[in-house]
Amino acid sequence: MADTSSSAGRLQAIRWESRQLVILNQLLLPHSSEYVKIADCHAGHHAIASMQTRGAPAIAIVAALSLAAELNTHPEFDSSEAACNFIHERLDFLATSRPTAVNLFAAVRELKQVADQALHENTDVREAYIQAAEQMLAADIADNQAIGRFGADFLTNEHKGQLKVLTHCNTGALATAGYGTALGIVRRLWEQGKLEQVVFTETRPYNQGARLTSYELLAEQIPSRLICDSAVSALLKSDPQVSAIIVGADRVAANGDTANKIGTYQLAISARFHNRKFIVAAPSTSIDLNIGSGREIVIEERDDKEITRITGVTCDSLQGGKVEMESVQIAPLETRAWNPSFDVTPADLISAIVTERGVFVKQPGADVFDLASDLM
Ligand code: MRU
Repeated sequence: MADTSSSAGRLQAIRWESRQLVILNQLLLPHSSEYVKIADCHAGHHAIASMQTRGAPAIAIVAALSLAAELNTHPEFDSSEAACNFIHERLDFLATSRPTAVNLFAAVRELKQVADQALHENTDVREAYIQAAEQMLAADIADNQAIGRFGADFLTNEHKGQLKVLTHCNTGALATAGYGTALGIVRRLWEQGKLEQVVFTETRPYNQGARLTSYELLAEQIPSRLICDSAVSALLKSDPQVSAIIVGADRVAANGDTANKIGTYQLAISARFHNRKFIVAAPSTSIDLNIGSGREIVIEERDDKEITRITGVTCDSLQGGKVEMESVQIAPLETRAWNPSFDVTPADLISAIVTERGVFVKQPGADVFDLASDLM
């Protein structure tokens, strides 16, 4: 049984207790912390598509556990074949919730294999599935702690003294089962007394930085500073103390090309121009060895309204009344937008990829990574 109440972070975005799933509704953060019960795959699909839960590892785990919760209350199946077919069909449905983060598809593939194997071995298909989904939750926390250790060691070996780093989007306890990936490295540096400050971007249009990363960093009392997305180059130019940019990943191709939150690519260009390290931190489940390069990654495009409007709470409501989220129109109503949720950073611009298996770098003189060999 997964330990979901471990020291992996006081903030729990995913709670799995007595085989019931509740998630923190991230659409209401940082002003209101409300948990939503996810009783079945339809609720799980809705939570992922509407971004009540988000972040590549968290999406996969909520999908897996939403089916575990549904199986737990499902009446007896007529046969093991019926249970296995049900699991396959529900996993195919969950896979349609969001297209870019590969962790979801890796989880779907692995969980189908678990069900098939239980059927083949004549063991309890439902029980095998639930235990495998629980295992994914526990493994993600351990993987993130390993990423934190590897990443912090890599940075402190290269730079002596206190570090100042920049991060983008939200890659912390809210985006994972706990601890975080890129933010896990930041957390580890802080735990070791080696972090002076983390600067983080607002991450328009969904504002994962301004709403979620700030919430996590304040909760942990990690010294931090918010900047708008367009201030990154100005920061790197004016502050030589910022030694590295650390980001997460939604999908990493075999050559190291990395899909991550929109804006990541321009951060990497700026890091190269200003001669700073650009680090990708992700579990190996974010690496898709089935694709040779980032050209094959499907980039999700989201609603125009995420750009043409802004959502928040009124200051009056923060003074004490009931906190109500409000959506305010900022562009003319007729404005058409282009809203890709992710972009692909070419491997050439990436200094290192930190996983729970270690830190991968390019061979001397190479423009791309060889992750298939690294992961062998
Ligand atoms: O659209 P989101 O919020 O799901 O996008 C999240 C990101 O791009 C994260 O950087 C990535 O998933 C890594 S989370 C550990």
